[in-house]
Amino acid sequence: MAKANRFLALLYAFSLVFLVMGTRVAGSGHHVNKLFVFGDSYVDTGNLGRLLGRLARSWFDPYGMTFPRKPTGRFSDGRLLTDYVASFLGIRSPVPYRIRKFGHKLLPYGMNFAVAGTGIFDTGNYQSNLTTQIDKFQAQIDDGVFSRHDLKSSAALIAVSGNDYQHLSELDPDYLHHLHGFMHRLFAQFEVDLRRLSHIGVPKVIVTNLHPVGCIPSYTRPTNYTTCYSNVSSAVAEHNRRVDELMQELGGGSNATFLSLDVHTAFLNVLHRAKGAKEIKHPLVPCCVSRSITTECGEIDAEGNRLYRVCRRPEEHFYWDSVHPTQAGWAAAFEFLRPSLRRFLHL
Ligand SMILES: *[C@@H]1O[C@H](CO)[C@@H](O)[C@H](O)[C@H]1NC(C)=O
Ligand SMILES: *[C@@H]1O[C@H](CO)[C@@H](O)[C@H](O)[C@H]1NC(C)=O
Ligand SMILES: *[C@@H]1O[C@H](CO)[C@@H](O)[C@H](O)[C@H]1NC(C)=O
Ligand SMILES: *[C@@H]1O[C@H](CO)[C@@H](O)[C@H](O)[C@H]1NC(C)=O
Repeated sequence: MAKANRFLALLYAFSLVFLVMGTRVAGSGHHVNKLFVFGDSYVDTGNLGRLLGRLARSWFDPYGMTFPRKPTGRFSDGRLLTDYVASFLGIRSPVPYRIRKFGHKLLPYGMNFAVAGTGIFDTGNYQSNLTTQIDKFQAQIDDGVFSRHDLKSSAALIAVSGNDYQHLSELDPDYLHHLHGFMHRLFAQFEVDLRRLSHIGVPKVIVTNLHPVGCIPSYTRPTNYTTCYSNVSSAVAEHNRRVDELMQELGGGSNATFLSLDVHTAFLNVLHRAKGAKEIKHPLVPCCVSRSITTECGEIDAEGNRLYRVCRRPEEHFYWDSVHPTQAGWAAAFEFLRPSLRRFLHL
């Protein structure tokens, strides 16, 4: 186990050599030099244990094929949202909690607690729900890894991208009719979690809203990736209305503490190939396609034969696998997120 961890740490350190540092625009803005990250696979940079085997496909080929040309535990062919936000701040991508003991050099940049597959509630996956992730953050502060002073120049990035709903749909076939009550409970817990982060002392909290879930390849596969599945869009809209309301309530306005980061609009802009996203020629067709609906990108059979095929040009696709964007997809989407981050952090 220790040996495996060390190997991962080396792999991670290696991958970081290639991370391009962003250039922070000098200004009178709120100086942010630490990023604390919570949530799921849209921001996890290596916390999902490889020991989970094929469940942790992000540790197997072809994940990471574009960057750093080997798997790093990211559910993408390369960088994802966390890396772009860190680069925007002019810092390196924060060390994943799981390999923090081997990543001392990265501690000045914060820490990533996000674990693929998780939600605000337990999702039946890996049990590191949002509350547990914040518990781990609190423990790092209690242990003196980060001081109160450190927190003054920090920001938190939180991505909750739909695993709670996915889990509900597995438990309850009629879930679309029970969503309202579920959301009520979900947002009550979300509010508790976010207030806690603020109370711990993080001055700037960035919360993604829900992406256009009906457009992910697992929903569009029945139409050969031509049409987004519209039955979930009203649920997504309600979720996002609630995110906006909650952020306003917790502290919006000119000196905002909380930002609702509109990945929904950013994704749609790229999917519609808006100005600035023309290079994404295949907005709905994923790059890595499994042979059947019961297998996933990255799976092999007992003989080691691939149960998926990979496109030639990942940079022309928005989606990487059945759920996650490519590096090019995240890069294109980030261009639409940049202005609101700039305003929020006064950069
Ligand atoms: C989060 O996980 C912890 C540990 O498994 C559990 O005790 C807690 O009830 C969970 N919280 C929520 C909101 O699901
Ligand atoms: C999708 O493509 C396959 C193979 O080209 C074809 O057999 C099928 O009819 C198509 N389905 C739809 C819904 O267009
Ligand atoms: C979408 O919702 C409509 C109306 O509730 C329903 O008739 C239809 O079967 C649903 N489509 C799918 C593919 O589930
Ligand atoms: C915003 O916060 C800064 C720093 O805390 C403070 O100097 C400034 O007066 C505040 N502006 C408003 C409009 O509240």
